[in-house]
Amino acid sequence: MDCNIKRMLISEEAIRSRIDELATEIARDYKGRKPLLIGILKGSVVFMADLIRKIDIPIEIDFMSVSSYGNDTSSSGVVRILKDLDSPITGRDVLIIEDILDSGLTLGYLTRVLGERQPKSIKICSLLYKMRSADEQLPIDISYLGFAIENEFVIGYGLDYAGFYRNLPFIGILDEKAYSNE
Ligand code: IMP
Ligand code: MG
Repeated sequence: MDCNIKRMLISEEAIRSRIDELATEIARDYKGRKPLLIGILKGSVVFMADLIRKIDIPIEIDFMSVSSYGNDTSSSGVVRILKDLDSPITGRDVLIIEDILDSGLTLGYLTRVLGERQPKSIKICSLLYKMRSADEQLPIDISYLGFAIENEFVIGYGLDYAGFYRNLPFIGILDEKAYSNE
């Protein structure tokens, strides 16, 4: 499996200690408010599982699954809901948990759609933020960010390439040869 990993970018250790910090911040900010953490399937699953176990205030979780419509690379900005939430979020303090913000289309859509459901508040927690030029990325406010990374394709710790590598315990950079061999 590791033949397609160019190099490790973020170690298990580094992820763990950053998650501790994020969980502490979230617990402090949401104290007494019972937030609803919404994990975006499937990429956020590993991050979410580790993060929630470090948050020491009462929380609830739910999941949503979305996919971009149309031509894969630079899509129209239309996102489709594949799996919606189990319950209404009216009056709730919502925290969206995402693996990575790249173009911002997914999180832009989600904050708009969920924002229309009258939550009390809505914020974003993303493990990764991919640094892109302003014309390639929507301006999205991430309240809790794990790491800002260069514009490279990363895999592991929930992030996939063609469905694989989500189970890697660290975040690595995919070897471009993996694409060209397809
Ligand atoms: P956005 O809508 O362009 O911000 O893309 C967000 C989604 O694209 C994420 O939820 C990921 O599933 C996927 N994605 C973007 N960049 C990467 C990457 O480097 N590795 C794996 N998945 C990625
Ligand atoms: Mg994905």
